[in-house]
Amino acid sequence: MSNAITDELTLAVARAPINAAIAAARLVGRGDERAADQAAVDAMRASLNVLPIRGRVVIGEGERDDAPMLYVGETVGAGKGPEIDIALDPLEGTTLAAKAKANALAVIAIAPKGGLLHAPDTYMDKIAIGPGYAEGVVDLDASIQDNVNALAKAKGVKAEEIGVCVLDRPRHGGIIEALRSAGARVHLIGDGDIAGVIHCTKPDTGIDMYVGSGGAPEGVLAAAALRCVGGQFQGRLVIRNEEERERAKQAGIDDLKRRYDLNDLVSGDAVFIATGITSGSLLDGVRFAQGSIQSHTLILNAATRAVSELRVRQPV
Ligand code: FBP
Repeated sequence: MSNAITDELTLAVARAPINAAIAAARLVGRGDERAADQAAVDAMRASLNVLPIRGRVVIGEGERDDAPMLYVGETVGAGKGPEIDIALDPLEGTTLAAKAKANALAVIAIAPKGGLLHAPDTYMDKIAIGPGYAEGVVDLDASIQDNVNALAKAKGVKAEEIGVCVLDRPRHGGIIEALRSAGARVHLIGDGDIAGVIHCTKPDTGIDMYVGSGGAPEGVLAAAALRCVGGQFQGRLVIRNEEERERAKQAGIDDLKRRYDLNDLVSGDAVFIATGITSGSLLDGVRFAQGSIQSHTLILNAATRAVSELRVRQPV
């Protein structure tokens, strides 16, 4: 079957995170998370609605009742063309953008219809590693010590040379302690666990593994990136109360304890695209200079395994 997501369509879709990043970048460092998020959402939605697709938001700004725009289930696109499922986060790292800190991104993943899990807006326990390891070398249900040792053995290094990325949160205190006891180096990040997971695929970051809980929607987006470049991801929803149980039910999830592997979260010929809002370890941020706007975008393609970077200079 031919792939509905052509290179031409991919480039057209890339306008959505580029425009979202530019809109949010105008509000970087202003301490207003909501304004920056809204600007990114508006720009991404307008860009999606001119595309020649019949798009359906499966990961968006929230459920229909809570989010006026880019809500889960919203149809986007010009109404003609292939049926495409869309996972998006117009501003990943609202606090990073508000405080002008590194790694705020505008992110989108697309796949032919049915290719992306509709994850509820809950937390997800996650573990991820980069490409090149035997399947199952790390395991969401194994101890931190066993995972560090197994990964070190597979990499052919000592546990002391394993770098692990974790969101800096009180809830991760036990994980951080266990990682350090196992000998690993812990790279704490303030926000942005999509970038945190992608770090595992980039040896220059010094990060081999990502562990901890973060947003389930972000888990699907990160899994989409790994599907394109290789790597392993396992996740399980964290359901803390009745409201979250209901959210999961609304998302069509019956087995709340299910362990999701990468292919359960993302299947088919997915494409992952991220544009830097602030500069960081993955991308340069948007720059406004001498009458032009410069943006930096990463495009990952599961079908071709191509990794492309797009630098766009456009007039203000
Ligand atoms: P926002 O862009 O919605 O602020 O999310 C940032 C983020 O750090 C995500 O990358 C991560 O999955 C989630 O928040 C973690 O949630 P919390 O801040 O509640 O620990």
